[in-house]
Amino acid sequence: MLKTKIANREYKTCIYNASGVNCRSKQNLDELYISNSAIVLSKSCTIQERKGNMEPRYFDTETMSINSSGLPNMGYSFYNTINYSDKDYFMSISGMTPNTNIFMLQHLTDNINGIELNLSCPNIKGKSQLGYDFEATEELLRKASEILDDKIKNDFIFGIKLPPYFDELHFNNMADIINNTKVNSITCINSIGNGLVVNPYSNKTAIKPKNGFGGIGGDIVKPTALANVHKFYKLTNCSIVGCGGISNGIDAYEHILCGASAVQIGTQLYKEGVGCFDRIESQLKDFMLIKGYTNISKFKGQLEYL
Ligand code: DHB
Repeated sequence: MLKTKIANREYKTCIYNASGVNCRSKQNLDELYISNSAIVLSKSCTIQERKGNMEPRYFDTETMSINSSGLPNMGYSFYNTINYSDKDYFMSISGMTPNTNIFMLQHLTDNINGIELNLSCPNIKGKSQLGYDFEATEELLRKASEILDDKIKNDFIFGIKLPPYFDELHFNNMADIINNTKVNSITCINSIGNGLVVNPYSNKTAIKPKNGFGGIGGDIVKPTALANVHKFYKLTNCSIVGCGGISNGIDAYEHILCGASAVQIGTQLYKEGVGCFDRIESQLKDFMLIKGYTNISKFKGQLEYL
């Protein structure tokens, strides 16, 4: 029922982890591998290993999460040499500069079935999100397209992870840029960057890094996520991967209705662990049965306007 395609690759189910959650260590990745996650997606990596920002760097409530992990990761060569049979393995790449992104793209091993080039990490002090710099994004995607061209012909997934956009002009400009590249998959959205959660009783911020500023996820970002999924579904020919505010099967349904070919789970995976994939999958199937859909292709992108 949930089989799907992202670009030219086929999957038995359409639900997997959002980068950043449960995907930093070999043990984390193995847990995803043996779970019902459709794909194993790595933590965003940099060339060098990083310990990340000071703790506490994650906080959540029923309806939201805030994080400022600061790219803790084992370094690019660790993720580049992971090798799984029977399940696709994607690497999330988040170099500290465009040139380090290029270097990592030039040295991908054949173990990697796809990448998610992260244009949207909000948590490095003094660095802005690449996806809000349209010129720099255009130049990076042009160079990346040249490097990955041969792999893409062999069904490699060249995915990008975008920050959320909030304005028509930005949706259109980013879609134009993407449509002139070899990008074949777009993950919408990364967290809503630089939110601030405060505790009115202690007068303190909820997390320590960047004076409490961090990326917002969870239920409250779902309308922004759906808007971005639907816009990029309409404006590009890429597969869309929905991410943001999915904690049950009906949330997943909404993302697919807006155009997502697959969905990623971030905050809920953090709270619940890898058991969330089975639960959300069975809830999605139950809802599809109620609606009379046997396959996600029957309702993908079929959102109706009033
Ligand atoms: C981190 C957060 C992100 O939203 C992201 O895209 C990459 C890294 C982090 O803080 O580790």
